[in-house]
Amino acid sequence: MDFKSLEERCNQILRNMEASLTARDRVGIQDFVLLDPHTSESAFLDNLRKRFHENLIYTYIGTLLVSVNPYKELDIYSKKQMDTYMGVNFFELPPHIYALADNVFRTMQSEFNNHFILISGESGAGKTEASKKILQFYAVSCPSTKLLNNVRDRLLFSNPVLEAFGNAKTLKNDNSSRFGKYMDIQFDHQGGAVGGHILSYLLEKSRVVHQNHGERNFHIFYQLVEGGEEDLLRWLGLERNCKNYRYLVQGDCAKVSSINDKSDWKTVRKALSVIEFSERDTEHLFGIIASVLHLGNIKFDADARGYATLNNNQEMHWVSKLLGIPNQVLQQGLTHRKIEAKTEEVFSPFSVDHAVYARDALAKAIYGRTFNWLVNKINESLANKDSSRKTVIGLLDIYGFEVFNVNSFEQFCINYCNEKLQQLFIELTLKSEQEEYEMEGIEWEPVPYFNNKIICDLVEEKFRGIISLLDEECLRPGEATDITFLEKMEDKIGGHPHFVTHKLADQKTRKTLDRGDFRLLHYAGEVTYCVVGFLDKNNDLLYRNGKEVMRQSKNAIIKHCFPSTEPDSKRRPETVVTQFKSSLVGLTEILMSKEPWYVRCIKPNEAKQPGHFNDVLVRHQVKYLGLMEHLRVRRAGFAYRRKYEIFLQRYKPLCPETWPNWKGTAAEGVQLLIKHLGYKPDEYKMGRTKIFIRHPRTLFATEDAFQVCKHKLATRIQAKYKGFRVKEDYLKQREAATKIENCWRGLVARKEREKRAWAVKVIKKFIKGFMTRNEPACTDNSEYLAYVRQNYLTRLKENLPKTVLEKDSWLTPPPIMKEVAQLLKKIYIRHMVWKYVRGITPQRKAQLLLKVQTSSMFKGKKENYPFSVCRPFMDTRICTEDINIKVLQLIQHEHIKYSVPVVKYDRNGFRPRLRQLIFTQQAAYLVEEAKIKQRIDYSSLRGVSVSNLSDNFLILHVTCDDIKKKGDLVLQCDYLFEALTKLSITANNQNSIKVVQGSVRFDIQPGREGFVDFKSGQESMVYRAKNGHLMVESTRTKSR
Ligand SMILES: Nc1ncnc2c1ncn2[C@@H]1O[C@H](COP(=O)(O)OP(=O)(O)OP(=O)(O)O)[C@@H](O)[C@H]1O
Ligand SMILES: [Mg+2]
Repeated sequence: MDFKSLEERCNQILRNMEASLTARDRVGIQDFVLLDPHTSESAFLDNLRKRFHENLIYTYIGTLLVSVNPYKELDIYSKKQMDTYMGVNFFELPPHIYALADNVFRTMQSEFNNHFILISGESGAGKTEASKKILQFYAVSCPSTKLLNNVRDRLLFSNPVLEAFGNAKTLKNDNSSRFGKYMDIQFDHQGGAVGGHILSYLLEKSRVVHQNHGERNFHIFYQLVEGGEEDLLRWLGLERNCKNYRYLVQGDCAKVSSINDKSDWKTVRKALSVIEFSERDTEHLFGIIASVLHLGNIKFDADARGYATLNNNQEMHWVSKLLGIPNQVLQQGLTHRKIEAKTEEVFSPFSVDHAVYARDALAKAIYGRTFNWLVNKINESLANKDSSRKTVIGLLDIYGFEVFNVNSFEQFCINYCNEKLQQLFIELTLKSEQEEYEMEGIEWEPVPYFNNKIICDLVEEKFRGIISLLDEECLRPGEATDITFLEKMEDKIGGHPHFVTHKLADQKTRKTLDRGDFRLLHYAGEVTYCVVGFLDKNNDLLYRNGKEVMRQSKNAIIKHCFPSTEPDSKRRPETVVTQFKSSLVGLTEILMSKEPWYVRCIKPNEAKQPGHFNDVLVRHQVKYLGLMEHLRVRRAGFAYRRKYEIFLQRYKPLCPETWPNWKGTAAEGVQLLIKHLGYKPDEYKMGRTKIFIRHPRTLFATEDAFQVCKHKLATRIQAKYKGFRVKEDYLKQREAATKIENCWRGLVARKEREKRAWAVKVIKKFIKGFMTRNEPACTDNSEYLAYVRQNYLTRLKENLPKTVLEKDSWLTPPPIMKEVAQLLKKIYIRHMVWKYVRGITPQRKAQLLLKVQTSSMFKGKKENYPFSVCRPFMDTRICTEDINIKVLQLIQHEHIKYSVPVVKYDRNGFRPRLRQLIFTQQAAYLVEEAKIKQRIDYSSLRGVSVSNLSDNFLILHVTCDDIKKKGDLVLQCDYLFEALTKLSITANNQNSIKVVQGSVRFDIQPGREGFVDFKSGQESMVYRAKNGHLMVESTRTKSR
């Protein structure tokens, strides 16, 4: 983070602070540190009042929270409000107890250390309420699981139980804490509330048997009587009327409008079950409460000798029943005192006064011890058994400073306790803070403050303090009384400026003091104590047989509270006040080991009224609470300080020079760091061992930056780690891939080598085989020859002649295959022939036979023969329908075999005439239309002449011995070969067909001859030549 962003963040926090101030919240100032003039008490009061009237009860002095009791329910404690304050910086929202609680929690979380919140203020100022609000906040804001919710509920519900048994209505407060309470809430490292522990301090037991006017006994008594179920009351022998019980009526205010005993009873019942009280525990507990009420009602009468006797056995009966102690034993315990003579025990009877005293002492002891049992029991239920390290937040809610008309031993203890806490506060804030500045060499103008050590010393100093004197008086032999105690004080501490008695006082003061009074000038004001009862209460003696009687109880709680192991009164136990003093020393130690936070509660008026702000009362509290001094120190001082090492350790990621490791001294590192962050000179000071930061906002901005940076760093570390992992994986994979590759390559190479070796062998063998191919088969050439054979056969398969005609294209065989090849050829040709023959139809066969015939007659003889080969023969060229019917009638009986159109050349003049030539079985006919022009009986057919050229002329030579008969026929036929083949077959006279060259002589008539000359020419022509011959010229056809 750079300079700019930190400054921006500071400004943003300021802006947020402003923005979050609603119009209502802008009343006055939220932090007294901003007060002007900050030394003015009136300005302080004005601000507090202004805000109070707007129901703004919280105001800060730095991180200290000032709270003014509103005496009314405010709508500022909802779940929504809690959510608003959760995880938000302290000064970014209007002051609230939740903001403090949240800040404590987050500091604990981030620094992993222990804290406590000291809630102080006088009785009725709102301490208990504040502590409850804090607890509720943690209950809602902390992480929740089923287990944690259990603990949470127990923590929450321990409150109503303890309040019922330890709180009471006093003149100052309708729910006044009559015991001190320090509660540790334990958190695990995730911030879950996992357990708790409660320490209780000196319960005001005297209240059990006596209450001042306008005050009540502990709430539980009224709750039981008012709210207890009918059955329960009957079982306890109680009536639903508080007035029937002496211990409940002395204050004359059993019923109070602000308290609802009935509903509180229900809450307590529920709470008891949540904190796991068994049925038996509650039975015994309420048995004890009822028995105390019954005890209070026991009256004693004096017998003739003045000794106490019991007159109402009814109450006795109930006490006996409820505590499980035989009636007789109880009776004797209440009316007699056991005295140990040398060897025997003697019972000495009580006077009535003694008996009453013993009864009350018993009641107080029972109640007091039961209360302690209750706290222990709650602690058991809150205990966290897990031994892992936890951090704690302690809540200290103790009875507040109180001043009544008559103040007794209890007020003395309570006010002494407050005095001690004030001392602690001074110690931790004003004194130590200023001393720290001095030690650290920070320029500092000391702020004067009232140090109440002088009063604490007056009370607790060894040998000279009031407590010592009181103890002395309690323990010394002889007739010590409250008055002798007073005189002793006058004697020993008479000159102390904070102590005064009737005797020591000046005239004016003396009027305000009774003879039996002493007055202490406490930090919070003057308190006049009536010395009566001091010795007695300090001794807190229970007659010895009182304890013995209790030990016989069947009630488990009583049994537990009066253990037989308890030392007898032979050795005096520590006095009450000494015990209290020690417990406060213990408390101080507990608190000193933790980080402090403060809530200072202020009571606005004595009347418990909402909206009333009593200036005098509040001014007084502001004064004695030391708020002005605190403000001055805060204002001049620094909100935050930390050892350089700790500060650097936390924030070093914010500066590149200090991250990740700083080599120099921590102070130098911090200096660099804050320079990088852009702290302004007036925002911080460098001490000897610590850095001091003046404003919280500077720290918050730094913390915010750290939070952002933390995430970034986490992401970076995560990314680096992931990268590292991926790289590692990658390297592994790469190594694996290389390995596999190597193996594979090796394998392939080996295979290749094998292959090559094999190939070399094969080739060698092949060459050897080739070289010896012509030798007889032997091992050297057998494979080669087999190869040659196979190769030849394979090739032959590919190159077989497709037709018989290609038979000469037989693949040349290698020498060793010659014979085989010939055989194969023969077989193959036969096979082809066979296949061909198989494929020939009868028609085609007939046709082919004809063609064979034609071939035998003309092949190689007549020039145009080859062209005829491919022209298929037909059965006839003139169908029967085209032959004149008359002709048909004449020759049909001879069976017409073939007919063809011809051109007939006249024998004389050679005129061409179209005619039909018809072959029957017996003769050939030349037909013109219906006329048979000439019949040539086959027997008279001498021969047929055709030329060797490519013309289509044929000359039918007939035997002509009759002059009338016609001579030879000169014909031209387009289907010459077909016609002649048909003729040769029909006439069965193949040999009569002659192929001639040059010229054919024919008979025109017997004895008269003609000639047809044939020659080749440029074009086909037929004409009568000059020599009278018929000249047939035909074009020369190229031989195929
Ligand atoms: N924040 C608050 N909101 C509303 N009412 C409050 C608040 N704080 C205190 N009160 C009222 O004031 C009464 C007295 O408060 P509380 O019991 O907390 O005083 P205290 O300081 O504990 O006194 P003591 O020292 O006698 O125990 C409460 O019962 C309640 O009625
Ligand atoms: Mg209280």
